[in-house]
Amino acid sequence: MDFVETAIDPWGRTVLTRVAWNILWVSVFLSITFLVAHASYIILSAHRVRGTDETDALEAKHADLPSHIRRHSFMARLFHWVMAGAVFTLLGTAFFPIMGWQFDWVEIHYTAGLVLAGSIVYHIIHATFFLDFWSIWVGPKDIPEFKAEIRREMGHTVPGPHSAKYPIGNRLYHLVLTFVGCTVSLTGLVMLWRMGTPFITPNPYILGEGTWGWVYVLHGLVGLSLAGLTLAHVIFGARPKNWWLTKSMIVGWLTRREYLEHHEPARWPIKPGKS
Ligand code: HEM
Ligand code: HEM
Repeated sequence: MDFVETAIDPWGRTVLTRVAWNILWVSVFLSITFLVAHASYIILSAHRVRGTDETDALEAKHADLPSHIRRHSFMARLFHWVMAGAVFTLLGTAFFPIMGWQFDWVEIHYTAGLVLAGSIVYHIIHATFFLDFWSIWVGPKDIPEFKAEIRREMGHTVPGPHSAKYPIGNRLYHLVLTFVGCTVSLTGLVMLWRMGTPFITPNPYILGEGTWGWVYVLHGLVGLSLAGLTLAHVIFGARPKNWWLTKSMIVGWLTRREYLEHHEPARWPIKPGKS
């Protein structure tokens, strides 16, 4: 059972054309991306809260903190929900027709793709110049937190560091999505030149046949992994344990208590004051 489809080019060579949408390997691929994303959220995303006594002591120590702690600005939330709307539309218009529900999906699909690409460009500029740039990336500084999370997962009570602004699982998810989001948008944009749109004159000669095949295969594969990744992420947001974070993606803030239960004040410092 082939993983990709091929064709014979005018010179008699075999070239890739696109992903073969056969149900067996599609399910295997989807399940793997889902399981990896799901496991990273389950194991490495701050759901092991501090105990009541420890949080009470921290609250007494940090009584000068505002009662509401800003987590996501209005523009960051707007970006998240516009990007999410584009992703749901892209997944629906890509996969429903493959599953047998036929409708005119192409225009809706590439319009949502343009919204996704535009929102990512906006986000990169916004995050680089106006947000806390290093808060979302993983590096060697996170090894102590990683060890503490694994030991907590194994049932130990560990005093070690809690998360900074984003738990490690969330940052790994963001890292993978940076690759997936940028790749699916770039390949999709290039594909507009093969197909042509009311505003682009088609020109299939900008790439060779073999390269086109790779673009289509890559678009199919990252698109498919986006489905698994999105599913794991939506389940993360829907779990009652994580409602405090989902609420922060809607209203923008956490309470002081939620902040102290889940975070390490020294690793995500908040200015004292009223709010
Ligand atoms: C090179 C590319 C990227 C850079 C430099 C970048 C940078 C960042 C930074 C610095 C943050 C943390 C902002 C903060 O809390 O202060 C963040 C959060 C976030 N990123 Fe990205 N990101 C990139 C790609 C992406 C992509 C491709 C997506 C989705 C398709 C994405 C979705 C998000 C979301 C939803 C958040 C949380 C919302 C927020 O508070 O901003 N990012 N990103
Ligand atoms: C019903 C749908 C969704 C819900 C409930 C949801 C929920 C959330 C929440 C609660 C956060 C913030 C986590 C934090 O503050 O640490 C977040 C961040 C983020 N979301 Fe979503 N989201 C949804 C859809 C999507 C979609 C479709 C994508 C793209 C595929 C996406 C990509 C991201 C990224 C990259 C981040 C930043 C990394 C992270 O914190 O995990 N979200 N989302």
